[in-house]
Amino acid sequence: MEDKVRAPRNRTVTLSKEETEYFRTRLARVDSRLGVSDLVGRTINQDLLEAVENFPSSFVDLLFVDPPYNLNKRFNSTVFKRMDLESYTIWLRDIFTKLRRTLKPTASIYVCSDWASSPSVYAVISELFVVRNRITWEREKGRGATRNWKNSSEDIWFCTIGDEYTFNVDDVKLKRKVIAPYTNDSGEPKDWDKTTEGNFRLTYPSNLWTDITVPFWSMPENTDHPTQKPEKLVARIILASSKPGEMVFDPFLGSGTTSVVAKKLGRAFIGVEVDDTFACLAEKRLLLAETDNAIQGYLDGVFWERNTMNEQIRHAENSANPKNGGCDERGNSEQTQLAFF
Ligand SMILES: C[S@@+](CC[C@H](N)C(=O)[O-])C[C@H]1O[C@@H](n2cnc3c(N)ncnc32)[C@H](O)[C@@H]1O
Repeated sequence: MEDKVRAPRNRTVTLSKEETEYFRTRLARVDSRLGVSDLVGRTINQDLLEAVENFPSSFVDLLFVDPPYNLNKRFNSTVFKRMDLESYTIWLRDIFTKLRRTLKPTASIYVCSDWASSPSVYAVISELFVVRNRITWEREKGRGATRNWKNSSEDIWFCTIGDEYTFNVDDVKLKRKVIAPYTNDSGEPKDWDKTTEGNFRLTYPSNLWTDITVPFWSMPENTDHPTQKPEKLVARIILASSKPGEMVFDPFLGSGTTSVVAKKLGRAFIGVEVDDTFACLAEKRLLLAETDNAIQGYLDGVFWERNTMNEQIRHAENSANPKNGGCDERGNSEQTQLAFF
């Protein structure tokens, strides 16, 4: 990737030549049948179809798949070329058929797509899995268009192998500002909390996600990967659909988001990425996660809505020093040191 001149407050994770050389030594390849213990925690720098052939069977609890969408797109050293829908469906079918072998009977599967690729995705996942929902993520930053509607949303399909699966709905609550603070007859808040940082309600998330921005240059998770997913989005999926210690697998790892978030949330992980620069970026982010397990927008066990930075700072200060405000502390004290969005 080309070197760029960056603004002083730009926090994009980049690689020096020396770092690339070092992180390359940490990448893995899978050229013969391996066990789970050989693969866990590794970034595999290889074509996924080649690698997956040599993976064990039935070991993955959560599969997160963010493939190239059916668009002409450069991913550093490789270019994805748009196909007709039938060919894209055949390409996806081959991949998902091979990935299916790696899944436990209790596994969950999430698949990202845009509106144009979704018909292919649905055709394939409905043949192989139980399709349970389609999340719509409002990306906000859209691909501009002058003769069409700006494309600002993505689909994330949620599937399982069977009827027995993990869904930790209490671990993915949203903390929303209360707009109409109704009270009961005694003047007490009705279904909301009065805290020193404002009036908030905890709600269960729906399949419409409007509180998550794409990574941008002032965020410490940002890289130059062209289609990097936000940590907050992946955190919601990992928390809902896996238990601590379980195995999360991303076969199109890109800049490493899934492995990094899995690590921050105490899950086991494996990622495959064909481009070695992206794979090195993933390794650098994994190293950074050893000393900083913050996930922007996820603080003290709840997801905060956009534009609540000041409230999160106050919350963190109060949690660190309860005398300072007395708002309730929800577990994980390390999460209190977060950066705030
Ligand atoms: C949509 S991006 C994933 C972005 C990722 N979710 C992130 O947060 O950075 C797809 C990635 O798949 C990689 N890729 C494409 N074809 C691949 C293949 N056959 N095997 C492994 N990786 C591949 C691309 O290099 C690209 O980084």
